[in-house]
Amino acid sequence: MKQAELIVLAEQVVTCGGEGPKKKEQAADVGVIKDGAVVICDGVVTALGTRKDIFKVWGGDRLELPGTSVIPGLVDPHCHPLWAGDRKHEFELRAKGASYEEIHAAGGGIAHTVEQTRKASSRSLESAMEKLVELMIAHGTTTLEAKSGYGLSVKEELRQLQVIKKVADKLPIDIVATCLGAHSIPPEFADDRDGFLTMITDELLPAVKKKKLARFVDVFCERGAFDCEESRRVLEKGKELGFGLKIHSEEFSNLGGSRMAGELGAASCDHLQHISTEDFPALKKGGTIPTVIPGTSFFLDMDVYAPARLLWDSDLPVALGTDFNAGSCLLPSMQMAMSLAVLKMKMTPEEALTAATLNAAHAIGMGDKVGSLDIGKQADLLVLNTPDWKDAIYRFGCNAVRAVVKEGVVLNTVLRSPIGGPL
Ligand code: NIG
Ligand code: FE
Repeated sequence: MKQAELIVLAEQVVTCGGEGPKKKEQAADVGVIKDGAVVICDGVVTALGTRKDIFKVWGGDRLELPGTSVIPGLVDPHCHPLWAGDRKHEFELRAKGASYEEIHAAGGGIAHTVEQTRKASSRSLESAMEKLVELMIAHGTTTLEAKSGYGLSVKEELRQLQVIKKVADKLPIDIVATCLGAHSIPPEFADDRDGFLTMITDELLPAVKKKKLARFVDVFCERGAFDCEESRRVLEKGKELGFGLKIHSEEFSNLGGSRMAGELGAASCDHLQHISTEDFPALKKGGTIPTVIPGTSFFLDMDVYAPARLLWDSDLPVALGTDFNAGSCLLPSMQMAMSLAVLKMKMTPEEALTAATLNAAHAIGMGDKVGSLDIGKQADLLVLNTPDWKDAIYRFGCNAVRAVVKEGVVLNTVLRSPIGGPL
């Protein structure tokens, strides 16, 4: 008999396995093993199969909860988890008819959060982010992308990335950091856009590289933020320095950012409410993963959602994220993101799960380590409180997570605060 560190058993084990990122045809099969077992040794998936077959070969500690299913740990590939203060007043203003873009243009929005975040101590930012990440873990996120972007100066962006690193070192979750220094023009550079961009390209990005504080560089390519040529400056410098690239593109208008991202070989282009089919070939060519974020359309009460159905049908591998941030989406739960993807974007549950696991992992350069239950990958998995994994999507707004296993360790997901995150 071989000895496992842990064997997780469930009525269904959903592997999402295979080569990724997956397109429509491959995503249709999420690899359900009925009465399945996952064998874990040294934090890694070592064998998979039916309970009957596994017990012929393996012995060891078991995690076996009645009436449960197992899916890979969820991967959130687009998140702004570090900020202070709140934007409840904007939430209320929007309910009265103001739009996100109007609030941004009037000096609220990102600028408001930048002001609050710059004033906050590193310790308070760290504590708020820790609580938020604990909340996300409790909802099943085991790998997370974390952007800076509420500092907008060399000193403040570095400080935020340092806090992200501290939280990443402390909590049992993989956190992939992204430098979003080009999130918005701060008030002190209102009349000097060129000077701001030069600061980003010539000072901030080289310093982030030197200190190894981020893996990706991102830019908000949007009317009212940075146009395509400005965004290109940031991304080209990022590429030259060896960062992976990401872009916020086509969220409120189509400036051609996604196409440019494809040309530059970006890892992902994100949001995409206004992407057009003419932009698709560049994504295919560049291997750029379209990452859609239904929570933002929902929270901003936009009529338009990214055309995820069309993206899948056009044979692009789609990823899904929460976009958790202070203003445009307060959603910490990838389960709810999956529900919205099915409800509002007409993904199948299988596509939503693939987008939230394997494809999301590829969108942040983690596809070889996480995102599916494949032999040799990290044993990151969720035990769901339902014998059918689809309930985690169908029963929207619930948390179906019963247990979270990260690299073979069953986590304590008791929350330290009733609502995690910046408050
Ligand atoms: O992804 N669009 C730009 N950045 C965020 C919003 C940030 C904010 O409003 O604070 C987003 O939606
Ligand atoms: Fe975002």
